[in-house]
Amino acid sequence: MNLKNLSKLARITGTGSYLPEKILSNADLEKMVETTDEWIVSRTGMKERRIAADDEFTSHMATKAATIALQDANIQADQIDAILVATLTPDHIFPSTAALLERNLGAKNAAALDIQAACTGYLYALSIAKAWIESGTYSNILVVAAEKLSTIVDYKDRGTCILFGDGASAAVVSNKGAGLAIQHTCLGADGEQSELLKLPAGGSRLPASKETVEQGLHYLQMEGREVYKHAVRRMENAAKECLDKCGLSDSDISWLVPHQANIRIMEAIAKRFGIPMERVFQTIHKYGNTSASAIAIALDELLKEHPVSTGDNLLLFAFGAGLTWGASLLTQIEE
Ligand code: UT7
Repeated sequence: MNLKNLSKLARITGTGSYLPEKILSNADLEKMVETTDEWIVSRTGMKERRIAADDEFTSHMATKAATIALQDANIQADQIDAILVATLTPDHIFPSTAALLERNLGAKNAAALDIQAACTGYLYALSIAKAWIESGTYSNILVVAAEKLSTIVDYKDRGTCILFGDGASAAVVSNKGAGLAIQHTCLGADGEQSELLKLPAGGSRLPASKETVEQGLHYLQMEGREVYKHAVRRMENAAKECLDKCGLSDSDISWLVPHQANIRIMEAIAKRFGIPMERVFQTIHKYGNTSASAIAIALDELLKEHPVSTGDNLLLFAFGAGLTWGASLLTQIEE
C-alpha cells in the first residue's frame, strides 16, 4: 500500500508507559531460588525486572501509562470512545480493569472492555481498535496493556520466577493525525496446546479453595521448552504472513519489535528475517517478560529513543498462552 492510501487507516497517535520503581535483579533471585545470574542471562537475556508495590494494582499502572499516552496524543479523556485493556492479571475477574480505567481517567464517553489473549493481548486489542476505527464506529480508542504478573508467579519455582515482571503501556488509536498507521494485523490461536501455559485455579473450573491455595494452583505453570518451540515457529509465520499481506519484504523492515520473552527467540527470528540485532528493539534486559505489556512498552520506548520517519515500517509480533500469537505491521505517516 502506498503512503497516500495509508492515510485512510487507523493510526497510533500517542504512547506512554509506566514501570514500577522496585527492581528485582538476578542477584536478588539468586537469594530466593537455586539459580545464577550467568544461567538467567545466557538462557533468557534478562538482568532485571520491575515489581509493583503491594498497593499498586494493574488498574493503577494502566492509569499512569494511559495518562501519558493521552498527553502524547494531545487528546482529552472525554474524547475517547472506547477503552481496551489487554491483561491476564486484571484487578478482578469482574468488573473489568478497563471499566476501572474509565473511572480513573474520567473517560465518561468511552465503552470499556478487557481483552484476554495473554502475551498477544496488545496485538488483539490493536486489531479490534483498527476494525472499530476503520468501520467508522469510533474515532479515538485507548489501547492499554497492563500486567501485575508478580501476583501469579511462584517465587519458589526457578523455572518461571526469573522470567516475569510488572508494567503497563498505552496507545491512542485514532482516525486522523500523524502517527503509526496499522497496515495489517495477523492473529492466531491453538487451544489444543492450552495446557502448556496456564493458571489452573481461580476460574469456574477450579474455584479458589483451601486445597487450591495449598497446592499452589493460583500460580502460573509453564512447560518452557515446548512453549519455546511453538513461540519461534508461530511468531515467525505470523510476521511473514503480515509482511506478505502488506506487499513488503524483509528489507523494508525498519525495526522488529518482538515479544520480550527470551533473547534467544528474538535472535532466532531476527536471523530468519536477516535483520541485525541492532534493529531488534529490546527491553528484556531491564523488564523481563511483562506479558501483554511487553511489546507495548518496547514500542513506546522505541518511539521515544529513536523517533521514526515517514515511511518507516515497524514489525511487531507476540506469542503467549492459549496458545495465541500475532503480528502487526505499522508504518509512520504524516496525517
Ligand atoms: O510469554 C509467553 C511465552 N513464553 C515463552 O516464550 C518462554 C519460552 N521458554 C523459554 O524461554 C525457555 O524454555 C526458558 C527460559 C523458560 C527455560 O530455558 P531452557 O533452555 O528451555 O531450559 P529448560 O527448561 O530446558 O531447563 C534446562 C535446565 C534444567 O535442568 P536439567 O533438567 O537439565 O538438569 C532445569 O531444571 O536448566 C534448569 N533450570 C534452571 N537452572 C538454573 C531451569 N530454570 C533454571 C534457573 N536457574 N532459573
